[in-house]
Amino acid sequence: MDTNSKLTSLIRSVFGETGFIPLHEPRFRGNEKKYLNECIDSGFVSSVGAFVTRFEEEMCRITGAKYAVATVNGTAAIHIGLVALGVDDSCEVLTQALTFVATGNAIAYTGARPRFIDVDETSMGMSASALEAFLKSAVELDDEGTPYNKENGRRIAACVPMHTFGMPCDIEAIISICDEYNIPVLEDAAEAIGSSKKGKSCGTFGVMGTFSFNGNKVVTAGGGGAVVTDNEALAKHLKHLTTTAKVPHRWEYVHDFIGYNYRMPNVNAALVCAQLEQLDTFLAEKRALAEKYKALLQDSEIEFIDEPENCKANFWLIAIRFSSEESRDEFLQMSNDSDVMTRPAWEPLHQLSMFMASDQAPLPVTENISSRIVNIPSSAMPSN
Ligand SMILES: Cc1ncc(COP(=O)(O)O)c(C=O)c1O
Repeated sequence: MDTNSKLTSLIRSVFGETGFIPLHEPRFRGNEKKYLNECIDSGFVSSVGAFVTRFEEEMCRITGAKYAVATVNGTAAIHIGLVALGVDDSCEVLTQALTFVATGNAIAYTGARPRFIDVDETSMGMSASALEAFLKSAVELDDEGTPYNKENGRRIAACVPMHTFGMPCDIEAIISICDEYNIPVLEDAAEAIGSSKKGKSCGTFGVMGTFSFNGNKVVTAGGGGAVVTDNEALAKHLKHLTTTAKVPHRWEYVHDFIGYNYRMPNVNAALVCAQLEQLDTFLAEKRALAEKYKALLQDSEIEFIDEPENCKANFWLIAIRFSSEESRDEFLQMSNDSDVMTRPAWEPLHQLSMFMASDQAPLPVTENISSRIVNIPSSAMPSN
């Protein structure tokens, strides 16, 4: 049997010999229905309710962050984070091109221009050396220490690295380089709940980290997100901005910013509270599945993308890498033909029509690896 067939049979042996196998599906094995009923019975199904507060407390416990602010989704979490950092249409925001489109969209919502920086081959997240090379050549600090792009005069307002498929990126190095240039780092940890580096959670290294609880993530709220931070003033501001910037008062409607209706509804929070109770189980099951794939692919021509040194990945979407685009396409064709859902990496953002005119540093690694990566079925599965 060739490796493609061996891999497909392993997937079938884990997820079922017949029927369609999705890439990632949610598991509802805990208190989901109980908490949803409690939520409905309470009458508080919208953006005020006990589960929203409980969810925020749980996010602090799980990530170790001091504060968490619940949002309607992960895209809104990034957007509001950038707004709170004062990003506007005069700014440039650094990110990676190998990411889900939401990262670029959230930057674009502020009016800022994204600039794409290359990624590391191993972590698939932003490359610290590519970032440093760009900053050294293109950025200068003014008398107040504010970083500006020498070529276009734009203020470099933030750096948004992403933990690709839940693999921790080289976040400490990225932050220390950004610190030299006074650039705040917002970690897009949408895919990385439960991932960590040297025991510290992804999303807690930068000034802020954002998460997604979409239906395809390790745990889901149906739709939902969160921003975590250790900065109390920032956390208060984020909560204010996500709740239409209403000035607290028993009856008056006074708002002091252009705010957003970005607060997670209680009904979604009820679901995600039940899901978070099972996070450790899901992580253990996904890790055991990753071990199976890894063992099968050892010494084969397909590379299993493993967690970087000193890191724990959540193996949200398990990724493998082919030696060429042709061999990737052959596997995509074969697996999808046999009802096993597999997917290539996203089209890098600099190749999408709306971002084509964006600025970019050279992206050789992004271009080289993005056409060879495939995600394979990664849902949590109890071992039999
Ligand atoms: C890297 C990344 N950023 C942002 C998001 C946006 O999250 P949401 O779908 O909850 O808006 C997602 C996922 O969906 C993502 O994968």
